[in-house]
Amino acid sequence: MKRLILAVLFSTGAQAAHPEGEYIARVADCMACHTAPGGDPMAGGKKFATPLGNIYSTNITPDKTHGIGGYSYEAFARAVREGIAKDGHPLYPAMPYPAYARLSDRDLHALYDYFMQDVTPSARPNRESDIPWLLSARWPLHIWNALFIDDPAPASSDMADPGRAARIARGAYLVEGPGHCGACHTPRGVAMQEKGFTHKDEAFLSGAMIDGWYAPSLRDSRLSAQEMTSMLLTGKSQHDALSGSMAEVVSESTQYLTQQDAAAISDYLQSLRTSHQPSPQVARRQSDDSASGEGKVLFGRYCATCHGDSGKGSDFSVPSLVNNPVVMADEPGPLIRIIADGAQTPAIRGQVSFGMPAYGEVMKDEEMRDLVNYVRQRWGQTDAPVSASDVADSKKEARDAGH
Ligand code: HEC
Ligand code: HEC
Ligand code: HEC
Repeated sequence: MKRLILAVLFSTGAQAAHPEGEYIARVADCMACHTAPGGDPMAGGKKFATPLGNIYSTNITPDKTHGIGGYSYEAFARAVREGIAKDGHPLYPAMPYPAYARLSDRDLHALYDYFMQDVTPSARPNRESDIPWLLSARWPLHIWNALFIDDPAPASSDMADPGRAARIARGAYLVEGPGHCGACHTPRGVAMQEKGFTHKDEAFLSGAMIDGWYAPSLRDSRLSAQEMTSMLLTGKSQHDALSGSMAEVVSESTQYLTQQDAAAISDYLQSLRTSHQPSPQVARRQSDDSASGEGKVLFGRYCATCHGDSGKGSDFSVPSLVNNPVVMADEPGPLIRIIADGAQTPAIRGQVSFGMPAYGEVMKDEEMRDLVNYVRQRWGQTDAPVSASDVADSKKEARDAGH
């Protein structure tokens, strides 16, 4: 929450002398990772849990001692595109340089000028990682890089249809480059590397679990181009709303996209379809209301007031649970987390945010189990029931993730 407030302060501050660089910083969402809860903007210190231990983002304000004030353009370019710090050490791949490798020279120059001249310097010192010294030897990252970073050739130069090609190429650039959408939407392999960095890889944007949220496939999406554009700019569309980490992406990054760029992203994502019609996966038992018992009673008591008995919600304010990726995901964690912690539509300039209450303290784990099983049975696509201990585990994971 604090980060959202900060983002607002940041955006209402003085007009940047380098609006072009500020725009790229928004699209690339440097702020999300380089600002600690309650900390100075871009001054680093946000924690990233890795299987080996915690690492912390660094101070990228132009402070000469603690920040990147001593970085030349060349050093900055190497850090952002290749993940090599000024002193030559490789950066942990939490920093999405495999995507930023595709940034154009022009955008990178604009970004550099913006950081050096518009961002307020902060003297916050960097924090060492908690990874034991033996494991923190950073050299293996050189090998990681050689293995997994592909050639940053301009995206999408091979698109056939010249009519839409320019728009789609712009969308490809934004998604595969600064937007680093694959960091969450692409599944990761054994070495935590994303399984593909461009539209040419089938795994790219094919959906993944990330920090306890489910980032659905953006290929063959159930959303039309228009719905997608609306989701990116406002965090909602007629029947849908975004929650979890994507709500933060919208609040801090995509709401600032120009209308053309948001539409270019949607056109590009639509171009990844293998089938040509938007094909909503119809939930199997969508109309089968035979499920009964305690879960149904709980749904009527706690959920139906807003989402309706039919689960369809109401236009532009309460999302539908029908064809909803959180409900349809095999993994029950995100659904449990939303019921336990509640949710808020993203904070968007000039718009009222709609909220869903938290039921973690209101419902016993056994009740939440019955409710979750009812919701998944009615609108989901898996038969696997959850247990009360699954509920307890997901609630704990959500707490550990800082919510
Ligand atoms: C998804 C999270 C994430 C995003 C987004 C991100 N960074 Fe980073 N960045 C990190 C982390 C974590 C580190 C520290 C890595 C390490 O210590 O090995 C880092 C390190 C850096 C460094 C090296 C700084 C130093 O102290 O030497 C620079 C420069 C940098 N980032 C710039 C940027 C810029 C510019 C953007 C936006 C275009 C950006 N980062 C976006 C996570 C991120
Ligand atoms: C920090 C992780 C993260 C990043 C980065 C990210 N996303 Fe997401 N995205 C998610 C999650 C999690 C969801 C699911 C949200 C929900 O269920 O309400 C999601 C959902 C979406 C949806 C809705 C899909 C659907 O079927 O409902 C769209 C569209 C989307 N993201 C587009 C993008 C684009 C475009 C980018 C890059 C500009 C991006 N995302 C970057 C995590 C992320
Ligand atoms: C006061 C109205 C209200 C009540 C009561 C309510 N919700 Fe919600 N719900 C919302 C709103 C508004 C959102 C959108 C918030 C957001 O952006 O994530 C939402 C989001 C959701 C989502 C996530 C949708 C997505 O695509 O990310 C799920 C799942 C959900 N609700 C299920 C439930 C269940 C189950 C209950 C009963 C325990 C419930 N809701 C009770 C208003 C409500």
